[in-house]
Amino acid sequence: MPVYVIVGASRGIGYQFLKTLSSQDPSNVIIGTARTVETTQEKVAADGLKNVHIVHANMDDHASLTAAAKKTAEISGGVVDYLIVNGAYFALPCFFNAADDHVGKEDLFLDELRQIMHTNVAGTLFAFNAFVPLLLKSSIKRVSAISSAAASTDYIVGAEDPISIHYALSKAALNTLVAKFAARYKQDGVLFVSISPGWVDTHTNMPAEVMDKVSKPLYRWDKALKGPTPREQSVEMVLKVIDELKEEQNGEFLSQHGNHVWLNEK
Ligand SMILES: NC(=O)c1ccc[n+]([C@@H]2O[C@H](COP(=O)([O-])OP(=O)(O)OC[C@H]3O[C@@H](n4cnc5c(N)ncnc54)[C@H](OP(=O)(O)O)[C@@H]3O)[C@@H](O)[C@H]2O)c1
Repeated sequence: MPVYVIVGASRGIGYQFLKTLSSQDPSNVIIGTARTVETTQEKVAADGLKNVHIVHANMDDHASLTAAAKKTAEISGGVVDYLIVNGAYFALPCFFNAADDHVGKEDLFLDELRQIMHTNVAGTLFAFNAFVPLLLKSSIKRVSAISSAAASTDYIVGAEDPISIHYALSKAALNTLVAKFAARYKQDGVLFVSISPGWVDTHTNMPAEVMDKVSKPLYRWDKALKGPTPREQSVEMVLKVIDELKEEQNGEFLSQHGNHVWLNEK
């Protein structure tokens, strides 16, 4: 009965990990962390998900992650086999700004940079530090952070995507953080990887003009792209990448295909 921890599991891709893992194998023990425990528990109950436990954690607060790891150990008997850090801040007030749009908005740039680096980068470091002691007791020992193709310099330049600077910077820093942990725990046999899930259907209720701004560079990059991938499919692909991870991929930044094909382009 493998034990999975998903950090940031209240909705979207994170919640889909709970659903998929629970339906894939009834012997999986799944612990999801959420800032809103009650609402998430209600969703889990309404969806009839088996073996799913929700514990509180906020990635901005390292003490809450330490407390979540303690609760997890009580549920799982002290062992975690797979850790997936999924939660993220998106810096929406700056999401559509290119670099020069911040002229005259430097304070906003800095405020949002502090927040996104806090949640997405420091929050991931806090989560890894909190849960790694439990992973060290596993024979599987796999840690993943959900990243984004937005951090790939090939994609940024090839897709001519000048916006979402904060988000891209935070995911690039996240990828480096993952490599640092891979280096730190190589001797202990823990595999760390950052994985982009592709373009996923979690933000499809945006107004058409907003969706247009988000999707234009994606269609420029992949001319045959049909639209976002259903979250069920993306999560299955990400889990397959984690399952099939090889030692030589330790510390890498991979796509949902397990390589550097960021959307579905050939
Ligand atoms: N959707 C895509 O196309 C896409 C593409 C590439 C990468 N990704 C990545 O996939 C992951 C999930 O994205 P999504 O599309 O599912 O987004 P989403 O639907 O907006 O969900 C974001 C999740 O992050 C959690 N979160 C935010 N701040 C948090 C914090 N301080 N502490 C703990 N949890 C926090 C949210 O919890 P609350 O409910 O408490 O806010 C929510 O569960 C992110 O890492 C994102 O960067 C998504």
